[in-house]
Formats: sequence, structure tokens, C-alpha cells
Amino acid sequence: MYSLPPLTLAVLALLRSTTAQSIIGFGPYFSLGPTQSWIREANTTLVLPEIPTPELLDRLALWPGMGTSGGDLIQALAVSFADPDANCGATEGQWCTWASTLQGTQLGGDQVPASPGDGLTMHYVYNDSTGEYDQTVSINGQVVSSLSTISGQAQGWGTAVECQDDACQSTVPAHQYLSTTLILDSADQSFGDTLAINEADSSDFTTSDNGQTWTVSTINIHSHTFAL
Ligand SMILES: *[C@@H]1O[C@H](CO)[C@@H](O)[C@H](O)[C@H]1NC(C)=O
Ligand SMILES: *[C@@H]1O[C@H](CO)[C@@H](O)[C@H](O)[C@H]1NC(C)=O
Repeated sequence: MYSLPPLTLAVLALLRSTTAQSIIGFGPYFSLGPTQSWIREANTTLVLPEIPTPELLDRLALWPGMGTSGGDLIQALAVSFADPDANCGATEGQWCTWASTLQGTQLGGDQVPASPGDGLTMHYVYNDSTGEYDQTVSINGQVVSSLSTISGQAQGWGTAVECQDDACQSTVPAHQYLSTTLILDSADQSFGDTLAINEADSSDFTTSDNGQTWTVSTINIHSHTFAL
């Protein structure tokens, strides 16, 4: 159902969804990869903005995603729908959020309402005993949705603002990703050089241990108006 920012990673571009949306567009992003290692764990907190305007157009998605060697896209989602009640029981002005992996089809955990101002912590961690990525979405610290998928190994991580159909004529408010931490399987000092940014800015993307653990405390995604 969801596909990828066009400039993220060459390896990710192959994953573009083949399902039938009439229009798909991508806005701002903060994108990393591919790493020469692989990503064991990723943690970030998306602070939800107000829903896009005009309101209630299908469909606008915010997500931090990881493209994998298995051809999957691990992508916990926050989506603004034309009918939020029908999708997750949300009221007008709310988002729906859930753990999700694009694996040919869109797999997902429970879909729950979330409000502007909520902190959605999207946590992905490779589980050595199962070979799966365990994914959770927490709202203000409480786990609300989870999903585990065998997806291979994650090669990059990036944020996306994705419009589909009528939402490709809307304005998405600025929003932030806080306390982002990416842990690689082994040190890759060149990982920082893979950063690509569009209509976004951030505090420094730094490593505390010569390339295995990478952090960025604040990513500011700018407001974006789609006109597709
Ligand atoms: C992920 O980030 C949140 C928010 O900073 C933090 O509360 C939580 O402990 C982190 N979880 C893990 C597993 O790192
Ligand atoms: C790995 O997955 C198993 C099975 O779901 C689970 O019991 C275990 O707690 C997970 N390991 C970690 C470190 O989370």
C-alpha cells in the first residue's frame, strides 16, 4: 500500500509498490543508507502534527522506514484518512497509527487512533532468536501496536511524507522526530556520509563509539504542500 521516497536508496527504489494507487507522491525526508553493516535496532519518536489541510482527504502517511535485504520495508505508519473512524475508530482531526511491514502486501498490527501532539515511539529491533524484526509503536510510552516479520537485514533508515490520491493536493504541517538512535551490527564510520535530506534539517547526526551507535536528537521535517 505504501511505497518509498524516490531518493532514499537505490536498493529501496526497487520496492515501489505495484498496487493500484492513481497518484503517489513524496515530500520531505531525512534518509540514511545503505550501511556497509546492517541496522540491528532503530528507535525514534515522531511527534504528530495536526492532520493535513484540507482535512479528511485519502490518504497521507508519515513514516520512518527501513529497507531490508529481504526486499521488505519496515514502516510503522501514522496515516490521515478521509474516514478516520472507519479505519481505526479515530475522530476527525486524529491520525491512525500502527506497526507495519510492506512485504509484497501490507502487513500490520492493531490500528489505533493518535492525536496531534502525541509522541509515537517507533521501535524496530532484530531478534536473534527468531531472525525477525520486532516492531512496536507506543503512544506516549504505552505500546499500542506490534508486528514481527522475517525481513532479512535492514540496510537504511529514513523518514517519509507520502501522499496518495486526493491527499496529493494537501499541505502537511511541519513535524519532528526526536531521540533517534540507530544501532548497527558492527561499526561503519561511513554511515554518516550517506545522509540525504530534503526540506528538513536536524541537529548533528553523530556516533559515540566510532560508528556502531548513531544518534540525532532532533529532526525537523518542514511543512510541505503537494500539488500532484
Ligand atoms: C526508545 O525511545 C523512547 C523515547 O526516547 C524511550 O523512552 C525508550 O526507552 C526507547 N526504547 C528503546 C528500546 O531504546
Ligand atoms: C525474541 O522473540 C521471542 C519470541 O517472540 C521473545 O520471546 C523474546 O523476548 C524476543 N527477544 C527479545 C530480546 O526481545
